[in-house]
Amino acid sequence: MTLFLDTSDLDLIKKYYKFGAIRGVTTNPSIILQNSSKNTDVNKNLKEIANYIKPYNLSLEVTSNDHSQMIEEAKFYNSLGKNISVKITIHGPEEEEFNLEVINILENKENIRVNVTAMMNAQQCLLAAYAGATYVSLFGGRVNDIGGDAIQEIVKLRNVLNINNLKAKIIVGSVRETSNIFDWLNAGAHIVTVPPQFIKKMQIHPHTTNTVKQFLNDAKKIKN
Ligand code: E4P
Repeated sequence: MTLFLDTSDLDLIKKYYKFGAIRGVTTNPSIILQNSSKNTDVNKNLKEIANYIKPYNLSLEVTSNDHSQMIEEAKFYNSLGKNISVKITIHGPEEEEFNLEVINILENKENIRVNVTAMMNAQQCLLAAYAGATYVSLFGGRVNDIGGDAIQEIVKLRNVLNINNLKAKIIVGSVRETSNIFDWLNAGAHIVTVPPQFIKKMQIHPHTTNTVKQFLNDAKKIKN
């Protein structure tokens, strides 16, 4: 079980890597867009992230929906660093099914690690795992947003991956509240990918603040 950071902001990645609690980074086009005013050269920024966090993993998502362009883009990302895995959505915007073929080609012919993304239930993740995915990304917050139960999907998925002896690691993303992180790991996620602001929310507790103040005040009063 471990934590990834869900961001393309290298300054924040550096800040939280120094804490030692992060073992990888995930991005997607929306995350990169949010951070784009800071980075005009997107590929340079992504390469720097890969280099900074190696040997930990960085996930980069293809930006095309065309079969051969997806493969070309995946090869390009792969050339930016050995620790990069390529995100492919489980299907296309018009429900195109060939994404599974792309996943199979990348994993089994091109030797490129794939993180299959934008998945909303255990059965999508299982299919991606059968196609050879290294990572299967379940969007827990989006599942819950429309009345689903992310925890139930994680429990079922972990169980079926274990029974089938499949190598895929479960990443759960789309964190909406701090308690999601603990609950999803507890349910069987191998990894939860966390937006940076939630790391502070995990760490800080008002009673801890008061307790630390009490200890420091009393320490000053001790006579040596
Ligand atoms: C996961 O890999 C995704 O980048 C991300 O967690 C999606 O989160 P959102 O639903 O908040 O966009």
